[in-house]
Amino acid sequence: MADIFEKLIKNYGPLGQHRERAHGYFAFPKLEGEIGSRMKFRGKDMIVWSLNNYLGLANHPEVRKTDAEASAQFGLASPMGARMMSGNSNYHEQLEAELAAFEKKEDAILMNFGYQGIMSAIDAICGRHDVIVYDAEAHACIIDGLRMHPGHRYVYKHNDLEDFEKQMERATALIEKQKAGGILVITEGVFGMAGDQGKLKEIAALKGKYDFRLLVDDAHGFGTLGETGAGAGEAQGCQDAIDLYFSTFAKSMASIGAFMAGDKAIIDFIRYNIRSQIFAKSLPMPFVLGNLKRLELLKTKPELKAKLWSNAQKLQNGLKERGFDIGNTDTPVTPVYMKGGVEEATAMVMDLRENYRIFCSIVVYPVIPKGHIIYRLIPTATHTDQDIEETLVAFTETKAKLDTGAYKVEAIPDMAG
Ligand SMILES: Cc1ncc(COP(=O)(O)O)c(C=O)c1O
Repeated sequence: MADIFEKLIKNYGPLGQHRERAHGYFAFPKLEGEIGSRMKFRGKDMIVWSLNNYLGLANHPEVRKTDAEASAQFGLASPMGARMMSGNSNYHEQLEAELAAFEKKEDAILMNFGYQGIMSAIDAICGRHDVIVYDAEAHACIIDGLRMHPGHRYVYKHNDLEDFEKQMERATALIEKQKAGGILVITEGVFGMAGDQGKLKEIAALKGKYDFRLLVDDAHGFGTLGETGAGAGEAQGCQDAIDLYFSTFAKSMASIGAFMAGDKAIIDFIRYNIRSQIFAKSLPMPFVLGNLKRLELLKTKPELKAKLWSNAQKLQNGLKERGFDIGNTDTPVTPVYMKGGVEEATAMVMDLRENYRIFCSIVVYPVIPKGHIIYRLIPTATHTDQDIEETLVAFTETKAKLDTGAYKVEAIPDMAG
């Protein structure tokens, strides 16, 4: 019999295979200093485009004050136990009520993490006769939720309504044949890699034609889209048609935790059946109070969202004017598409960091097809015009070098440390 660990050390996986050269630089880098548009990396000042701190709340003085005071008052332990047993509090319920009201839903449930929360919610909602229809570019947490689903699932091509209808027809036929079950459609408000919004309005319009419930993961839309910041449903004028609205607090709220909002009867069912919450300790009080403060600022300081969008437009227009391909983003998420190998991409990232002091994330093969590189920039309310200008110059110069083959290297530069 093989040692179960044997295969692990033979193949560290698509990203792990580069770890000996990449660790601490291309993977698992350590950004230091106060969270903001300028931070330190390996002792050097960098303009940072990698953090989903959209509204700049991470370091807002009122947020820092609440976080500190709540930690001093309650510590990280309180309340102890799962919410169902002993870990509930008035503050947890207040946050749920405020989130529900903000999203124009009857009720909401808090989750400790978005990833396990949405997985576990899918598990709670769907039985073996139910069918899930989902977008091909759904986030890993949705895919893992599907892996727990004992019934059928149909994937439709990303944001492709024709294929969506094809899959809905297949799902409907299966349910009719089984004479049991229903359909849950899962998509996202904003696709975090390319920055395009999910076609929520168009999908919602098909509710009369097909029978289904709609779950939307709006991790990147919450706080950034819609007149009040309520997200992609508000922006597209179809919030009512979203049966279950989900967002993490990890992005515009710059915190930890997540929530799902919907009709009271359904949220109550989830509350009593979501295994990741029932069998796990509740969100510590400093996070709950910190999230209440963040939500208050998100609702009462529209200037933060306005600044985010003004920065996003300056960055995106600047890139487009300089001939960069940023795809069809219609949100602050700013992908920059280029062509090149993995080794070239890493050499370019090194140049950007070491010589231009720009820190941004890259996506390469095998996450995307061979020969393609995506730089992913996340503008925030804290970026300045100078940050944007310096970045545009750096991108223009490094792209010219990429095009002339200046970054052609044999292997990923050894930057581990
Ligand atoms: C679309 C999407 N859903 C869910 C999550 C997971 O949320 P969390 O970080 O709270 O686990 C993320 C990443 O944070 C995300 O981008």
